[in-house]
Amino acid sequence: MRLFIAIDLSEDLRSKLAALPHELPGAKWVKREQIHLTLRFLGEIAGEKAEEITTRLRVVEVPEFSLRLQSGGYFPPKSRNPRVLWLGTERAAPLVSLKEQIDEVLLELGIDPEERDFHPHITLARLKNAKAADVERFITEKLRGFSAESLFVQNFILYESVLNNRGAEHTAIASYVLGHHQHT
Ligand code: 2AM
Repeated sequence: MRLFIAIDLSEDLRSKLAALPHELPGAKWVKREQIHLTLRFLGEIAGEKAEEITTRLRVVEVPEFSLRLQSGGYFPPKSRNPRVLWLGTERAAPLVSLKEQIDEVLLELGIDPEERDFHPHITLARLKNAKAADVERFITEKLRGFSAESLFVQNFILYESVLNNRGAEHTAIASYVLGHHQHT
């Protein structure tokens, strides 16, 4: 199964993001219900290993925290051919701790850390043939207001992503509540 670990957005924030004008040529917008902040992309994992991951993630222990949103941006940065439009968040200490603990659990299960650095972000759209100037204008004009928003993080979620001809479908496999140890 294709797995990833993410933080969900509040309904309020989803609504605000979904209300953004979708006026950006070349953008394929992330479906409202799928907007998330990825903590870790795992890719294809065998069923037995997935069960172990599901269980072991319970040891992660981080208090609830709030996370300020920051400006928008795109990947690859400064490129003439932007591929992903995102909204960044601050690199808050509890977020980094959460990410590190998850990576640690996975490492103990023999899954090596990702090679890419952790740039906390919420992907808003994937881009194809979008002009960098248009993307930059969108970021300046439409995403600036989000720097006043924050996200209250109370849990994180292990998702399965199933690819089909309509794109990806995300199904929550397990949700992990922050703020206390989850002995079972
Ligand atoms: P991102 O959009 O937050 O950057 C679910 O597919 C999530 O996993 C996506 O939202 C994406 O993160 C991340 N993801 C998908 N494919 C990936 C890959 N090959 N490498 C790293 N992250 C990936």
